[in-house]
Amino acid sequence: MPGIVIVGVQWGDEGKGKATDLLGSRIDWVVKFNGGNNAGHTVVIGDEKYALHLLPSGILTPGVTPVIGNGVVVDIEVLFHEIEALNARGLDTSKLKISANAHVITQYHRTIDKVTERFLGKRMIGTTGRGIGPAYADKINRVGIRMQDLFDENILRQKVEGALDQRNHLLVKVFNRRAITVDEIMTELLSYADRLRPMVADTGLLLSEALDRGETVLFEGGQATMLDIDHGTYPFVTSSSATSGGAAIGSGVAPNKLDRIVGIVKAYTTRVGSGPFPTELFDASGEFLRSRGFEFGTTTGRPRRVGWYDAPITRYATRINGLTDLVLTKLDILTGLKTIPVCVAYDVDGVRFEEVPVNQTDFHHAVPIYEEFHGWSEDISGVRRFEDLPIRAQEYVLALEAMSGTRISVIGVGADREAVIVRHDLTD
Ligand code: GDP
Ligand code: IMO
Ligand code: MG
Repeated sequence: MPGIVIVGVQWGDEGKGKATDLLGSRIDWVVKFNGGNNAGHTVVIGDEKYALHLLPSGILTPGVTPVIGNGVVVDIEVLFHEIEALNARGLDTSKLKISANAHVITQYHRTIDKVTERFLGKRMIGTTGRGIGPAYADKINRVGIRMQDLFDENILRQKVEGALDQRNHLLVKVFNRRAITVDEIMTELLSYADRLRPMVADTGLLLSEALDRGETVLFEGGQATMLDIDHGTYPFVTSSSATSGGAAIGSGVAPNKLDRIVGIVKAYTTRVGSGPFPTELFDASGEFLRSRGFEFGTTTGRPRRVGWYDAPITRYATRINGLTDLVLTKLDILTGLKTIPVCVAYDVDGVRFEEVPVNQTDFHHAVPIYEEFHGWSEDISGVRRFEDLPIRAQEYVLALEAMSGTRISVIGVGADREAVIVRHDLTD
């Protein structure tokens, strides 16, 4: 099974990093295909805890070749910090390859991200402030800087001049900030060039050749379906394609090479930043989930908004991504609840919606229609076989499976690498 894609089903932080790590020993390559250091993946291996942002989580597995694909936006300073932090902990990052076509995040992107949010006031997106949106905007506007530009000083200068020409008008005249000089950006970017040179490659070619040789490639998605620029809750989304189609676009590998599409879904729901969230909780149950699940952002430390499981969202993700499997994470966090509500449909101004409404206003007004499930009280963190789960936990999982339309192949029962129940192997 050579091409395996991992995508988030909800609004991110489903445990994608752990899922990638879980597959690590059976894969040859792992490619991050979208986003940048807005992502935050926590991976726990025994007593060690790793927080990754820009680097793909597969970097934690020896032998895997990690790749940053063309669909990623790269803050080079952050890249070097992450590499150094892993090296200091004894991890080898020397195999890392970065696409020559990946775009670069520079200081003007970060500045514009932050001032745009301030200007939006109560309409703010709640971005991570990492410059992600402005870097993708430059890419689409065809004034972005790509990795390969760093190795040609003349071209780089022309491109930086072109980009700043537009950006400085915005910064000075609209946002009342100081202009950024071409020289300061040139000095910064050129200072990275020598160190980057051995890493930058035609990664689409490398990955396609690897697949042709029968090697296994894992496509690691950042963010999630409901944060996707096209299919998410626009405008409260990130600026990249976080769904499975993005795996082909953001890696340079043809879509017919993607064999398995795995959706990662939490046993409840969380969201960071603004935007609609029908099952959101503001009561003691919400506090229970936030504190038990330690729902605080890996990237910004913000408390995550929490709510019950939303089945129409998983059905939607199944359709948009073509999911072949689900990994249900954090089932252990629900232990101790007497009853567990699951959203099965929405009521929008008196009309029942079985699917996620396409109209933004309808989704903002969607009131969840719940079905209640019995909880369980037994500690499940040590369980490794589905049949050994309390019967109520089995019923909960089987009900989610029936509602989502995709089989639940793996169940997470704890943060550690080993804390999983495997029902179907994701690599065969
Ligand atoms: P990602 O952005 O999708 O990679 O997810 P994050 O790393 O931001 O958030 C998921 C959090 O849940 C991390 O702290 C993981 O260590 C943790 N986690 C993942 N799976 C499980 C699980 O099954 N049970 C518990 N208790 N924690 C989990
Ligand atoms: P992982 O990969 C959760 C959210 C931000 C904000 C919106 C836009 O860890 O699941 P951006 O900085 O991307 O322009 O912010 O998207 N967001 C995430 N939320 N997990 C993430 O990544 C996220 N990456 C971006 O909070 O609402
Ligand atoms: Mg995260």
